Amino acid sequence: MNLFKITAWAAAVACSALAGSAAQAQGAKLKVGLMLPATGTFASLGTAIENGFKLQVAEQGGKLGGREVEYVKIDDESDPSKATDNVNKLVKRDNVDVIIGTVHSGVAMAMARVARESGTLLIVPNAGAGAVTGPMCGKNIYRSSFSNWQPGYAAGEVMGKKGHKKVVTITWKYAAGDESVAGFKEGFAKATGGQGQVLKELTLPFPNVEFQALLTEIAALKPDAVYTFFAGGGAVKFVKDYAAAGLKKSIPLYGAGFLTDGTLEAQGDAAAGLLTTLHYADGLDNPKDKAFRLAYAKTYKLQPDVYAVQGYDAAQILAIGLAATQGDVKDKAAFAAAVRKATIDSPRGKFTLGRNHDPVQDVYLRQVVGKENKSIGLAVKGLADPGKGCNM
Ligand code: PHB
Repeated sequence: MNLFKITAWAAAVACSALAGSAAQAQGAKLKVGLMLPATGTFASLGTAIENGFKLQVAEQGGKLGGREVEYVKIDDESDPSKATDNVNKLVKRDNVDVIIGTVHSGVAMAMARVARESGTLLIVPNAGAGAVTGPMCGKNIYRSSFSNWQPGYAAGEVMGKKGHKKVVTITWKYAAGDESVAGFKEGFAKATGGQGQVLKELTLPFPNVEFQALLTEIAALKPDAVYTFFAGGGAVKFVKDYAAAGLKKSIPLYGAGFLTDGTLEAQGDAAAGLLTTLHYADGLDNPKDKAFRLAYAKTYKLQPDVYAVQGYDAAQILAIGLAATQGDVKDKAAFAAAVRKATIDSPRGKFTLGRNHDPVQDVYLRQVVGKENKSIGLAVKGLADPGKGCNM
């Protein structure tokens, strides 16, 4: 070894020793801030995400990057007006190493803003807001779920290919609803060669569930089909009201798969036969999903849903990044390099993260059969969010 090589080698050894001691100096424990809804229409989604996350951590022996995991929790109530205060509590008061959250797009955008300002690592286990992996993207910001555009676009293609020409859309008036419908319109236009018509875009404020007047309007408009984005408690009520209004027999209802995920027990017969598009489904024949479902059911005495999968995969992403940095959350470059080249072995099927850190993933077409969202094929293979506005 010449002198230069020896010096470089000594520097590298010193550096890695420093990185190691930095990780230890941060305290043995890794502080994970869980910012999820524990109340409101999305409460059960928050629980499933937390369950999935903790299941993966348990499978890692309770440690990530060599550090034992401890949790700090905040109920964000899916309320954007409280979001900045809530996320600041985690970052400034609790000094968390990483934030996991949340479900609601409006809340997630506030979280991404704080993550960008503070440099705190953020992994979004649901909210599909385009901005998070678009203009607000960053080396410290990741998503284990989807962009609102993705399932919407896939549903648009499916509905167009099925020959529907005149459709109505209905959703909550906020980022997730707007972006889901925008994705739908893009896929629908493509599949109909621009011949498809959106007769009307109906909305109501989040999280309202007074659907009656809008259902009357749908009946009067007589579209070939309806596309919708609702989730959680709101989705349960919408599916029941749609059937009770007598529309289900005459006007086929489609949705982003959140419409029927984690909701089928409560929806009962009203959901039977519905077609939806999502990056997870029942009856996926892969070993990872089988093992995940068994472990989840055993641990929580519950069947998992898409939210549980997204929580599980948020912890997988964190585990991959921290393994590369020996638990040091500050080494963002090494964390990003490891995660970007990883293939994540998810219960949904293997996926990678795009350059904007949103999953590039298969979107399934599912049909409700009994209490399951049975996969009946692929809607779109390897669908990547366009990541508009992301420069990194
Ligand atoms: C969102 O606000 O981005 C959102 C909420 C619930 C879902 C999906 C997306 O199930």
